[in-house]
Amino acid sequence: MNFQIPVSGQIYWIGENDRRKRLFENIWPLPQGVAYNAYLINDEKTALIDTIDVSVADDFLDRLAYQLQNKSLDYLIINHAEPDHAGMIGLILKQYPNLRIVGNKKTFKILEAYFGLGESLIEVKDGDVLELGRHRLQFYMTPWVHWPETMMTYDTTDQVLFSGDAFGAFGAFEGGIFDDEMLVDRYEDEARRYFSNIVGQYSNMVQKALAKLQSLPLRTICPTHGPVWREAPAKVVGWYDRWSRYEGLPGVVVAFASMYGSAEKMADYIARKIAEQGVREIRVLDVSKTHLSFLLSEIWKYQGVVLGSCTYNNELHPMMETLCNKLLHIHPGNKIAGVFGTYSWNGGAIKHLQQTMEALNWPLASEAVEIQGNPDSEKIHSCDNLASAMASAIKK
Ligand code: FEO
Repeated sequence: MNFQIPVSGQIYWIGENDRRKRLFENIWPLPQGVAYNAYLINDEKTALIDTIDVSVADDFLDRLAYQLQNKSLDYLIINHAEPDHAGMIGLILKQYPNLRIVGNKKTFKILEAYFGLGESLIEVKDGDVLELGRHRLQFYMTPWVHWPETMMTYDTTDQVLFSGDAFGAFGAFEGGIFDDEMLVDRYEDEARRYFSNIVGQYSNMVQKALAKLQSLPLRTICPTHGPVWREAPAKVVGWYDRWSRYEGLPGVVVAFASMYGSAEKMADYIARKIAEQGVREIRVLDVSKTHLSFLLSEIWKYQGVVLGSCTYNNELHPMMETLCNKLLHIHPGNKIAGVFGTYSWNGGAIKHLQQTMEALNWPLASEAVEIQGNPDSEKIHSCDNLASAMASAIKK
């Protein structure tokens, strides 16, 4: 399908939707698909900025040739060497053998490892400039947003930032590609899920990148996934800034693991008591039914986290253990925490939850609560303090 989708000046969007892939990185669910964005600048010199995932690239070369209008491709700029963006390098090089690949020192190490590339390279450093004719590109090294080689390309002529994974979102396009063509707030949840799953663990590096870009006028932001921002680029910058500063909203996630319903009863009771005390945003999530991807995103969103688990062979329920391990790995900022557990003959879950909170440095709003067997109408009141302390802390 050949048609042009101009971004600005001689810049064109040349991406693709992917609604077939079930799991991004073979981990993260894609209920609404994902889009891969690449961009062509058709100036006196021509430059393609990133490529797309090869699994949806059946007509990409045709579309690229159509956009080039009989010109050759001079440069391929690799802002990010992960295969969902760099996977087409081999095919593109076959089509355009005189192409020069633009990246930084770390990019080339990765490209060498993946594609055996050692020639046709132009190495750029922070602040280097590439003149295409009317468009003048400047490079900004922004390591670890998301891999160590990640960099951004800024078109100083039209003030367009090609940001790589930064400012990206899950979700395939439904007609609109630009933020002014859609109800962009509908992307916020998928953008936060993308952020928390993919780049959130490098939040300090996101903050460094934002500081580096602070003085640049940003008329348009072109990420590699999700909407192109030309009406309200400040909105997505604000989202990423808030999330990477770990600024949670006043609400609580109550996540539980339950075999026969006791821990679930405690979760429901605690959530109810928190609601009675005026906290409106509460999510009660069963870790056995809610994919880790969504658990992380919701935990990232709110200030409070209450984790509860039944004891399973003296340990945590395996699904809760997975969540705890991932939280320890990505460390989503500072939270107000609570823990509860159940057991049948001896405990174990509570100890592990407390250790997790300690390692995360998340202070407990109140003492851990543990119930043996069924949390009947008498025993359940042992949860009251936890709920009250959490509600008070959130409302502060
Ligand atoms: Fe979209 Fe880090 O790749």
